[in-house]
Amino acid sequence: MQLSDRVQKMQGSPIRKFNPIAIAAEDAGKKIYHLNIGNPDIETPDCYLDAIKKYDAPTIGYAESGGDKNLQDAVIDYFKRYDVELKRNDILITNGGSEALSMAFCTIINEGDDVLIPEPYYTNYHTFVTMSGGSVVPVQTSPDNGYQWATEEQLEAALTPNTKAIVCITPGNPTGRVLTLDEMRLVGEFAKKHDLWIIADEVYREFVFDGVKPTSFSMIDEIKDRVLIVDSISKRYSTCGGRVGLLVSRNEEFQAAVMKIAMGRLCVPTLEMIGATELYKLPASYIESVRDEYEARRNVAYEELMKIPGVVCQKPGGAFYMTIKLPVESAEDLLIFMLEEFEDNGESMMFTPAAGFYATEGKGINEIRIAYVLCQDDIRRAMELLRLGIEAYKAR
Ligand SMILES: Cc1ncc(COP(=O)(O)O)c(C=O)c1O
Repeated sequence: MQLSDRVQKMQGSPIRKFNPIAIAAEDAGKKIYHLNIGNPDIETPDCYLDAIKKYDAPTIGYAESGGDKNLQDAVIDYFKRYDVELKRNDILITNGGSEALSMAFCTIINEGDDVLIPEPYYTNYHTFVTMSGGSVVPVQTSPDNGYQWATEEQLEAALTPNTKAIVCITPGNPTGRVLTLDEMRLVGEFAKKHDLWIIADEVYREFVFDGVKPTSFSMIDEIKDRVLIVDSISKRYSTCGGRVGLLVSRNEEFQAAVMKIAMGRLCVPTLEMIGATELYKLPASYIESVRDEYEARRNVAYEELMKIPGVVCQKPGGAFYMTIKLPVESAEDLLIFMLEEFEDNGESMMFTPAAGFYATEGKGINEIRIAYVLCQDDIRRAMELLRLGIEAYKAR
């Protein structure tokens, strides 16, 4: 018996790979500050569970494959904040943003097609592109200028004869990079010129800092037939376990095609959609307060990082991640040291080595990603531990 070539080509998640070492350290009594995974600690709004508790039909039956109409209507209202007019049929409710991504790739990618993705990138893109028979082609970036990627030169340099789509994530995971509306328009023109689909992953849409206004690729009318927007309740509403996301497309041919896959998986959980409907109805002020908390954490993390000699990091504009170049040869080796050998008053911290966020062999080896999903005091302490850990590692 043999496994498929596709599954063997996939990248494993760098985010969970070192968990067994962390668990062993914790079992031995060490306190670990986890900055390695983007699982928000902010409380899920009460309206989510309250709505589910009110469900009183005798049976929890299947829902429509395209999603619950009340949820679609709440999403339509939410997008009006961006002056974007949608119809129910433009919105496919999915099992998290993850399913929106896998369905999108499956609907547009043929065997042998290339998908441009700025690297470092959220590794599951690699999984989903490979699942659909395509290959990831990275758009090259550099930590020295904050992982900027949306210039014409960078995009044209990455283009291949088989390029079918480009993935845009803004605000970015793992870098926190935020595209300006002008950069988004430039990507749109590039996509039009080369007849590409745009997969715009906007699950962190409102988490933009320094007074910058949130935007969406759906605001650019000229590309509305080729842009597929991925959205989710996981990050914006701190409801990762709810597993509700969506795919917005105003291309009727695409929607008819992707519906075949949606029908194949029957539906998204009925109760979770009822909770998600109330989340999408929350006012913009709720999201702004969450954003303010992440911005304050970003400031704390950045301030502490700047105390570490030799670190390269531009202050990121959004999401809740930072990718940082460290003054060590191997971030993976440092992490193992931090978990197995280092401690300060019985404590250490955990980050994600960034090499796993790259397709290009050898890149990102001395870079790490942190997710600032702990309270500000814990972030300050975790950054202090990183500084002390690097000092101890270098002094060995
Ligand atoms: C950029 C990005 N897209 C999509 C997802 C998937 O989110 P979910 O499936 O929980 O909606 C994540 C999760 O971390 C992410 O960071």
